[in-house]
This record gives sequence, C-alpha cells and structure tokens, in this order.
Amino acid sequence: MAYSSATQKRLLEMLEAQFNQFHTELGCRAVISNDTTLEPVPLPTHGMGVEQLCMHFNDQVAPKLSASNGGRYWGFVTGGANPAATLADWFVTVFNQNVSKGGDSVASQLERQTIDWLRALFYLPDSFTGLFTTGATAANLLGALTARQFIGAQQGIDVAQQGMAGLDVMIYAASPHASMIKSLGMAGFGQQNWQCVDTLQDTEAMCIDSLATHLSRCDSLGKIVIASAATVTGTDYDDLIAISRLCETHGAWLHVDAAFGIFERLMNGPEHKTNGIEFADSITLDCHKWLNVPYDCGVFLTRQPNHLVATCHVDAPYLASSAQNQDYMSMGIENSRRFRALPVWATLLSYGRQGITAHIQSNVDLAQALASWLENSQYYVLLKPCELNVVLFKPGDMHVLQEVRLCLEAINQSGKVFMTPGVWQGERIIRAAFSNWETTAEDLLCVIELLERLAK
Ligand SMILES: Cc1ncc(COP(=O)(O)O)c(C=O)c1O
Repeated sequence: MAYSSATQKRLLEMLEAQFNQFHTELGCRAVISNDTTLEPVPLPTHGMGVEQLCMHFNDQVAPKLSASNGGRYWGFVTGGANPAATLADWFVTVFNQNVSKGGDSVASQLERQTIDWLRALFYLPDSFTGLFTTGATAANLLGALTARQFIGAQQGIDVAQQGMAGLDVMIYAASPHASMIKSLGMAGFGQQNWQCVDTLQDTEAMCIDSLATHLSRCDSLGKIVIASAATVTGTDYDDLIAISRLCETHGAWLHVDAAFGIFERLMNGPEHKTNGIEFADSITLDCHKWLNVPYDCGVFLTRQPNHLVATCHVDAPYLASSAQNQDYMSMGIENSRRFRALPVWATLLSYGRQGITAHIQSNVDLAQALASWLENSQYYVLLKPCELNVVLFKPGDMHVLQEVRLCLEAINQSGKVFMTPGVWQGERIIRAAFSNWETTAEDLLCVIELLERLAK
C-alpha cells in the first residue's frame, strides 16, 4: 500500500475513528480487561491489507486493552498521554527520524534543547548533560554503567575496553527500586551484590548514620551510593545533601533515582525534599510517568558525561562522526533511537511550567483527598500520611473483605479503577498512585463510592 493521497486519507480516517471511539468510551470502559487471551492466527502468507487489519485489530485486540490511558488507572506510577504529546507522538511516526547522530537533521538539536528545558523545569544546573532513554529502568542501567566506568577509571581499568575483571567495588542503597537492582545485575555487579543501608524508622528513607558507618568501614577501592527521590511505595526522599557530602568525602559515585519524585520540585522548589540532587553524579528521571507523555520515555542525566561516552561509544567506519556535538548513539544503549524527545518538547512548549505544575498539584490534591477519606472511614486503614501522589491503605476489621488480596481483587474486578499491591513495613498493602493528567474529582468520587460499597 503506497502513500497515495487516497491512502493518506484512509489512514487519517481510520485514526480519527479509533481516536474518537477510544476517547468516547474511555470514561465508561472497564479500566482493566478481564479477557487477555489472543486468538492464535498463523503468520499470513498473503497479508490482509490495512482495511482488514484495522477491523481485525478492533475485533481481536482493542476491546481487550486496558484504560491505562485514562484517569482511574492508579496502578504502579502510570501517566497518560496529554494532547500535545499525543499529537507530537504521531509526528514522531510520520517523520520517523533516527536520532542516532547529528548532521542530517535538527532532531539531535531538538533533543538537546528539550534536555535543557527539563533541566530548567527542575532547577538543575547546566553541569548536567543527558539524553532520552526508553524509561527509568534504562536510565538506571546507564547510571550503573557510568558509575562502573568511573570506578574503573579510579582503579586504572577502562571497563568498556577491558572488562571488569579485578574491579573492586561496593554498592550501597537503602530502598532501591526493583529496576535499579535489575540494572546492577545487567551491569555485571550482580543483583544481590550490594549492601543494604538501614532506613529511618517508619520510612524507606536512608539512615545517614548507617551510611556513614558503612562507608567508613568500607575497604573497597570503589564505592557507589544509590539514593531515592522518591521511593515507589512510601514516596520517601533520601537526604541528598548529607549523602552527597558523604560521597564526596569517600570518593563514591552518587546516583539518584528521581523517576517521579523530581516533580515535587515544581510544587515546593529546589530546596525542599530533593535539595542536594544537584550534587549527584547521575540522575534518573521519567517522562512517561508524571509528565504524561506516551511510552516510552525516560531521561538520564550526568555531571560526568566522559564516563558515559567511554561506556557507550564504539568506533566503526560507517558511523564516523560528523557533528560538533556528542552524538546520541555514543551516550546511550541504542545506536538507532526513536525521536522520543519530540512529545516532551511539545508538552513543555504547550503547557509550560505553570500548566505542568497544575497537573502535578491536582494529582497530589486528589491523592490527599483519598487519604483523608480513608483515614476517616471505619472500613479502611490509611497506613501512612500521604505526602505526594501515592496512597497506602488496607481493609480494616469492619470490612467484609479483610484480606488485602481479596479486597484488591474486588477493587480491580469492578472495572472502575485499577490499583496495585505493595509491601509497607513488612505488611501487604494496596497502593493507589495518582499520575494521570486527566484524573478528576469525579473519578475520586466514583472510587470512594466503590470502596464504600465493597466494604459493606
Ligand atoms: C522510582 C522508580 N524508579 C524506576 C522505575 C522504573 O520505571 P520504568 O518502568 O519507566 O522503567 C519506577 C517505576 O515505577 C520508579 O517508580
């Protein structure tokens, strides 16, 4: 099917119909699909064509997709796709750029501008350089890899070139996200090969005295500290000023996973919970969470890009460099890269600091409203005061479904909302995370009614 004007017209008609149908149904469709089976279809020898394909998709796939792009998907930390980013994401496919090297288009420059704007949005100094990644997991992996290169350089080993045999390193963290642990495994450190620093009582935040003791007793030549801003369950923030001072004293690399916690800066400025993040060696951010751009889109920033480039660059004649700026393929995991800066660029231009802050504040207000309803309910127990966008609770003694698993199952089976499980202070709990730009007070009321009904 060539791109004749008739084809273009049909594609746009199909897109429009799909878009309309999805958004018309979004408010009332079940938030998760109970039917996740896919009819087995053999690989066609003769393709069915785009018209048939569209019907097949609408028949077999679309009804079984979730409403994760809507206001009542409160599982994990799930953002939606705002209108500016949605349009830009369509453009990404229309232009289908490979943002690998500069020199053939303005795309790399646009990525650079967008990173500059994100730095400005979050009040981060110019000393940070970075790039877009597929998500926070990939950014955490780059954090582990860049730290590894730094530790190697301290010990006279170029890990990217020679491997990590003989590398002497100890890693410290208190409540790292699972993706950080996965990254430690992928970077060759081992998922289990890190020291768990104590947490402060009733929080997931790192105990500074415990870290200080660990670091002063450490006889490894290389040290990496992984801090959180914020943790995915408790939304707790590590004291980054104190941690960065300790890291400086002990020559340790400091990586901060601020995937969604960085957005707190928009409400409270740079001197509140994330104060000191500017002293980190590397930072993970996520745009497909609280910036509400479509998947997949994370960010990695570092103050030591030389170690990042040493890790990611490879020479090949056909890849010879042409641009005066560092090529993105030499800063990240992939050589070929999607133009994923564009939806972020569009979001920042369309909404500005004020519009984005309003989204964040609205999510936080709704989360706090749910928390205060739970606190006053005779059927539920609020497990932690809500300080950001995540609410932790469980059914109480008066609830007909006292077991957390059964209660969560009933909540999700209702189709009205989707929440995910967690563990808080050793206890199974239910997590509700507010990160979708479209979540409204009506959504909250709908869920409160459901929670009330299920309890009785
Ligand atoms: C703090 C933190 N780090 C990392 C991740 C992983 O993010 P992604 O799924 O974008 O890779 C998450 C996801 O919830 C997170 O909350």
